Amino acid sequence: MPQTIAVLDFGSQLTQVIARRIRECQVYSKIYHYSTPAATLRADNVVGIILSGGPQSVYAKKAPHPDREIFNLGVPVLGICYGVQLMGHFLEGDVEHSQEREYGHGVLSIQRPGKLFAGLPRKLRVWNSHGDKLTKLPPGFRAIGTTENSPFAAIEDARRRFYGIQFHPEVFHTERGVDMIRNFLLGICGAKQDWTTNDFITHAVEKIRAQVGKGRVILGLSGGVDSSVAAALLHKAIGKQLTCVFVDNGLLRKNEREYVEKLYQRNFKIDVRVVDASSLFLRRLKGVVEPEQKRKIIGRTFVEIFQRSIRSIGHTEYLAQGTLYPDVIESVSIGNNPASLIKTHHNVGGLPKRMKLKLVEPLRELFKDEVRQVGTALGLPREVVWRQPFPGPGLGVRVMGDLTAEKLEILRNADAVLQEEMMTSGYYYKVWQSFCVFLPVRTVGVFGDERTYDYVIAIRIVESIDAMTADWARLPHELMQKISSRITNEVRGVGRVVYDVSSKPPATIEWE
Ligand code: XMP
Repeated sequence: MPQTIAVLDFGSQLTQVIARRIRECQVYSKIYHYSTPAATLRADNVVGIILSGGPQSVYAKKAPHPDREIFNLGVPVLGICYGVQLMGHFLEGDVEHSQEREYGHGVLSIQRPGKLFAGLPRKLRVWNSHGDKLTKLPPGFRAIGTTENSPFAAIEDARRRFYGIQFHPEVFHTERGVDMIRNFLLGICGAKQDWTTNDFITHAVEKIRAQVGKGRVILGLSGGVDSSVAAALLHKAIGKQLTCVFVDNGLLRKNEREYVEKLYQRNFKIDVRVVDASSLFLRRLKGVVEPEQKRKIIGRTFVEIFQRSIRSIGHTEYLAQGTLYPDVIESVSIGNNPASLIKTHHNVGGLPKRMKLKLVEPLRELFKDEVRQVGTALGLPREVVWRQPFPGPGLGVRVMGDLTAEKLEILRNADAVLQEEMMTSGYYYKVWQSFCVFLPVRTVGVFGDERTYDYVIAIRIVESIDAMTADWARLPHELMQKISSRITNEVRGVGRVVYDVSSKPPATIEWE
């Protein structure tokens, strides 16, 4: 077991951010359910504990409480926000409930830098978001920093190595927050910085070899970041024992299939089987207009084709998937979870059980930014590692209404122009997503001396951190003008280009 910093999750939306910041300091971190027994943490070689924030009051009826024994493990503990109230509550201080949350910027004045604030200026802007407030220090503690609203904004018990901060060091709005986290990890916990990309790759390769032995592994390649990095990592570990399947569903972008073939077969010598199922997909989608129905048909057909191609490859024991850490964290959801189902996302979830396959998930400990680092270290090109997300149902949900080969062709051509301009201007890497949407609406125009009556292309370009919320990108007008005139000039069938200025919410990123 590597040395681990445990982040106990009390339901804050920032728990994952804390874990990422720790890993950015090259220390391994893992998120645990708030009630994890202290004995489990000890067995996992935990050398420090961070108590996350959370939306509750420690006095609430169902307030999440940790195992009291974590304070007797002899390892340092850092409480953040709700984490401080918990320390106050469990270690015999006083916490006052307040109806109003303190939210936003504050100024931290550091009285005693100690180990937590070592090397930092005495005044720092910090980000607050908390309701309850510590009003009496637990025995053994002293205040080391204050804000306008709180004499106990930062506290320590240096003997037991317990620290508490009312604000959030993990967000960028807090000045030098990462330095505070680093001080805790290195200066207080004495953690080793042994979580690096190359170490990860070496361990992952050993682990894959130990798991699969001489067995054959199948991986569904989508062309996206996760499956691409998984393929490169598996190939490094087991070479020819890996077979990738790439399904052409007829809903791909221009030249996508050729690109994937070339990259993996020629550059990496990976065995990629390309299955052309485009006519089956289009046949099944004929006349279907309702978005959820389209998604279901595409999802079901994909699983069917994928299953068939696995059978045709011969005896296989293992199915590899590019599952990431955020997919496997059992996040604590307290109160209303906003991520309720809005669109059906298809995956091959039920497949391993049905086909009696064992799962290989070499990326399941990584966050997205770590996956990108691994991909780069394995020699994947920038345009793959930094590829924008592309939905599983592909252009199927970007042609509004029913799908035809003609509409798909128009969309593909328009989108190719957009991608080219985004790449040459460098904006491709600055935004979250940029794509075209086909609108089955015909409008009047003039081309040369002739009247035209052609379709509309909508351009959707958004900025986002995690796709949960998004805002439309403010691009330079010259660039928008160039994209628009190139599309109307070069793409037959398009007479008008419009720009989508809706944010999410209320609009979603994809139109269907
Ligand atoms: P929405 O449209 O829900 O999209 O705002 C959020 C993000 O998810 C992507 N997306 C999908 N990805 N399968 C996927 O793998 C899907 O069915 C799917 N639908 C949407 C979308 O491109 C955006 O990045």
